[in-house]
Order: sequence, then structure tokens, then C-alpha cells
Amino acid sequence: MSLKLQEVREKYISFFKKRGHSLIPSASLLPENDPTTLFTGSGMQPLIPYLLGETHPKGRRLVNSQKSFRAEDIDEVGDNRHTTFFEMLGNWSLGDYFKDEQLPWVFEFLTDEIKIDPKRLYVTVFAGDEKNSLPKDTESVDLWKDLFKKKGIEAEDVFIGTEEEGSKKGMQGGRIFYYSTAKNWWSRSGVPESMPSGEPGGPDSEIFYDFGTEHDSKYGEHCHPNCDCGRFMEIGNSVFMEYVKNENSGFDVLYQKNVDFGGGLERITAAANHDSDVFKIDALRVVIDKLEQSSDKKYEDPQYQKSFRIVADHMRAALFLIADGVSPSNTEQGYFSRRLIRRAIRHLDILGIGDGGICIEPIISSYSSHYDNLSRKSEEIRVIFKEEEEKFRKTLSSGLKEFDKISSANISGEHAFVLFSTYGFPIDMTLELADEKGIVVDIDGFNTAFKEHQEKSRIGAEKKFKGGLADTSEMSIKYHTATHLLGAALREVVGDSVMQKGSNITSERMRFDFSHNSKLTDEEKTEVEKIVNDKIREGLPVVCSEMPLDVAREKGAIGVFGDKYSDVVKVYSIGDEKTGIFSMELCGGPHVTNTNTLGNFKILKEEAVSQGVRRIKAVLE
Ligand code: SER
Repeated sequence: MSLKLQEVREKYISFFKKRGHSLIPSASLLPENDPTTLFTGSGMQPLIPYLLGETHPKGRRLVNSQKSFRAEDIDEVGDNRHTTFFEMLGNWSLGDYFKDEQLPWVFEFLTDEIKIDPKRLYVTVFAGDEKNSLPKDTESVDLWKDLFKKKGIEAEDVFIGTEEEGSKKGMQGGRIFYYSTAKNWWSRSGVPESMPSGEPGGPDSEIFYDFGTEHDSKYGEHCHPNCDCGRFMEIGNSVFMEYVKNENSGFDVLYQKNVDFGGGLERITAAANHDSDVFKIDALRVVIDKLEQSSDKKYEDPQYQKSFRIVADHMRAALFLIADGVSPSNTEQGYFSRRLIRRAIRHLDILGIGDGGICIEPIISSYSSHYDNLSRKSEEIRVIFKEEEEKFRKTLSSGLKEFDKISSANISGEHAFVLFSTYGFPIDMTLELADEKGIVVDIDGFNTAFKEHQEKSRIGAEKKFKGGLADTSEMSIKYHTATHLLGAALREVVGDSVMQKGSNITSERMRFDFSHNSKLTDEEKTEVEKIVNDKIREGLPVVCSEMPLDVAREKGAIGVFGDKYSDVVKVYSIGDEKTGIFSMELCGGPHVTNTNTLGNFKILKEEAVSQGVRRIKAVLE
């Protein structure tokens, strides 16, 4: 019987809970307070302050499964192991236990708990770095020898050095392999030389699973654990984070010795099932099954396998991004959701499924028990996928015609940009189409045009939305408070499913977009107007308070929630205990201090913006 993704996640979490770890929820895919990166791509990113010594409210032993998205892997998707979205299982010692506990625990989990055959495990350790006076990690070697011995395996250690040396030296009968900094040193910025001062890092010890396949000499003369031929797959990495780069380009010992273990949940599951294809794991396989049902194609057919994998990966990644608030757009993070959905659509077409083939339900069902925001937001997510599909399908066939016209020769940066800006083709798609035709695209030219376009739109956006408002004039602030009143009134009249989808405020008027499937009736509009005006006349106080996110959620505040319980958020309430709280929202402000300054609220227009989204234009008189 194969293990399911969820079973492995649960077993891992409960294994470490039994060893004194507290479970922490996954942080959002959108990093907070970390301008260095667009997405959360590993478990340690959101925990950096605690690895550097800040006290974590849940203690010094933590366990989690962190949602991660690696945009740089988007082009790699299609083989049996690369995905853009994945979960990273993590256990953390914040200055508590170290190597002596970590390596036995992770080995016990893999071999006893999920029953991976220890004979299939190979490990790597840090070879030391004389230049930076960083010692060879012989302690880990001793621990590994002992652990394998207990399973009746004599584990020899051999020295490799660099990856290049690995392909020359090969396995040499070893089970424990010393590699140098490029492979067995971990920091966010890579090898010791490229770390800025203040950055933490340390040696690591990686675990590889041997699928026992033949070595492919395309990847080097001999096979070794870090070879890319497919025989070995890395399934976990224990980072012994005990150093910090100092101002003199050297290293100091960190004030606390940490352990940061990260293991790809999909990969660990694939190893436990002894099947190197991560797409055969239940959570991805359910999507592929559905696609097989809707098409007359088979996943095993080499002509279509890549398309099955791209659709499954991209839909899952886009779904998690959207759930964390990243809707498709042409700028910053939103562009990734757009690229993922559009590329998935093209591959749905290749599979002959076409229009309406997006199926996110199986993904939601596989994940909702662990990520409850997925089912809470499923309707909203469905609408966003649908809208993006509709938008793209409007230009897809004319874009393909345009592509045929311009692709008699290599494609210029300018042409690639036209395909993007007029026909909505993400660059990956143009590259893929070009590749299929055996021509090349001037990617540098495209990037230059794209950057210019982004800068222009950024300047425009800054002008429009300084601090969320067009300006911070008194009138705009009044309108801002009015949007909160309107949101709460709509929820009263239409129902709790109403969610704000956007707003645009100037000192003359407000626009408020919200999720709702039908036109408001005249009675509903009058009722909403009346409620807002009543609340204005009642003269309710507007109070700002700061509280941890989970407290805000418990109190029933609405807004865009991440998953990081420890974050302190600003909450604006209209009304207090005396008057009764009419509205409570996560918001950065600013607002008026009492509703009685707003005047008379009047709805001018109510109209559709897109499927499932309505817009109200209103004024304060
Ligand atoms: N920081 C390490 C990694 O991302 C282990 O969590 O691989």
C-alpha cells in the first residue's frame, strides 16, 4: 500500500511532537518583512529572526510543514521530480538540541516510522573549508556510522570534494560522503564567500534515497549521491546553523546553535513508496486521474506525460498562491500566478481538454484538512481561475495565429513583448512554442521591454495608491471609513459570503468591489444605504487596536489573513462594547475617529466588473 502525502505529513509532525516539539502553522507563500525574495521558498525563511536569537512564542523545539514556491523551477517542471510548489517538512532547534539528537531522530523517522529501507539511504557531510577556518564535520560522520551499524550496515566514509570530482571518483564503496562548501554548507546566500555580514549559516548533512537505477553517463563518468542522473534523490537536509558571518569576512560562532531540518514532503513520500515519480503521489495523482478522465490520453503516454505534469503542478501552485492573496496580474508576484494558469491552459489544450478543463477540486480535497483556508476560499479561488481562463481564451487563438505569422524566423524581443502585452502570452509560453518549432527568442530584448513596462505601471500605481489611498486628504479618509461601513452593511443584507475584492478612493468618490453572483435589487441597495447612514448618524467611534492574528481571527475580524499566527496585525473596529461593534477589519488605516463626520452616503451605481464580482460607486454628500 502506498503512503499518502497527508499520512507522511501527519506521521512526521506527530513524531516530533512526541519529542517535545510544538507545531507551528505554515507561513504565507508571500514573505512578510523580507524584501529579499518574492516568495517563501524554504522552511527557514520565515524563521530567520528566531534562528538569530529572538524568542519564539512556541518554544525552542518547533515542527512544521511549510508551503514553498520556487519560481526558478518553473521551466524544469515536466520531469519526474521538479515541482514549483512543494511542502517542506521542518524540525527546528532554536539553541536547544544539536547533532546528537537530530541525526538519530531523522534516521529513526525515515527507517522505522515510514519504513524506508536503510540500505537505500546514503548521506553527505561537510568536508570543511580551510580558507574560512571551518572544520570538517567528523561528528556527523561518527553519528551516521553508528546509526547504520545499528541496522547492520557498515558505512564507510569517503572524500569527494566538488561535484566535478564526484563524477571522476564515483561511489568508492562509500555510504557517507564528504563534499565541500558548494554542496554541504547552507545559508540563504550560498557559499561562505557570498554571505553578507550578519547572515547565519552552517554545515549540513543531506540524506539521499537510492532508486537503484542505472547510471546515465550523460551526467558524468561515474555516479555519486549528488549526480543528476536520477539514481539518487535528496530527501532531507539537516543544517547545523552555528555560525554567523562577521564584519571582517570571517565567521563567529552564533550565540545559539540551531538545527534547521528541511525535507521535501513529496520527495520523502516518493522514497517511502519507492517510486521516483513524484506525480504518482496521491495529491498530484488525483489531478492526473481527473485529466485522464476528461481526455482520451494516458499519463503513461510519453507524448503527453509532460503536459499532464505541467497542468497538475501549475494548477496546484496557482491555487496555493491565490489562496495566499496572489491573484493573476502583470506585475510582481501576480505575474507568476498568471504564468502558471496560462501555461496550464495551453497544456490542457494539448491534452485535448480545452475550455473549462481547470479542475481544482481534487487539489482542494487533498489539502483542505491541513490548510483550512483552501476550503474557506474555494469559491473565490474558483472565480479567479475562471476569470483568468476567460481573459486568456479571448486572445489565445489570435495570439497563436500571430505567433505563426512571426515565427518563420527567430523571434525578436519586441515581438515576444507584443505577444505578452497584446495577446497575454507569458514569456514561458512563447519560449515553449519557439522551442517546439526549433527557433529562438531574444530573451534579453524581451526582458528590457518588460522591465520598462513594469516601471511605467509601477509609477502609475504609486501615483494612484499612495498608502492604499489616492491621497490622505480628509475627504479620502472619510471615504475609507465609508468602505468599511459599506462592507459590513453588504454582509448584513446580502450575506457573509461577501468579500471585498478591491477599492479605489479619491477625494470625490469611492468604488468598492465585492464578491457576489447577482445584481443587487433596488430593495437591497436601499437597505444597504440605510444601514450605512444609520451607522453614520449613530456617531460610532472608530478604534484601532493591535493584536496577534489568531486573536483577530477569533474575534471575527475580516480581511486578508495569512497563516502566521504570531503576527501582530492592526484591526479597525467601528463601534465599541457600549454601542456594539458593527465592523471589524484588518486594515492599515487611516480612518476618521467617529462616523458622525461622514455626511450622507449615497450609492450612485451598482454594476458587474467580472463574473462573481460587483462594483458599487458611491459618494458622501
Ligand atoms: N534550510 C535548508 C533548506 O532549505 C533546510 O531547511 O534546504
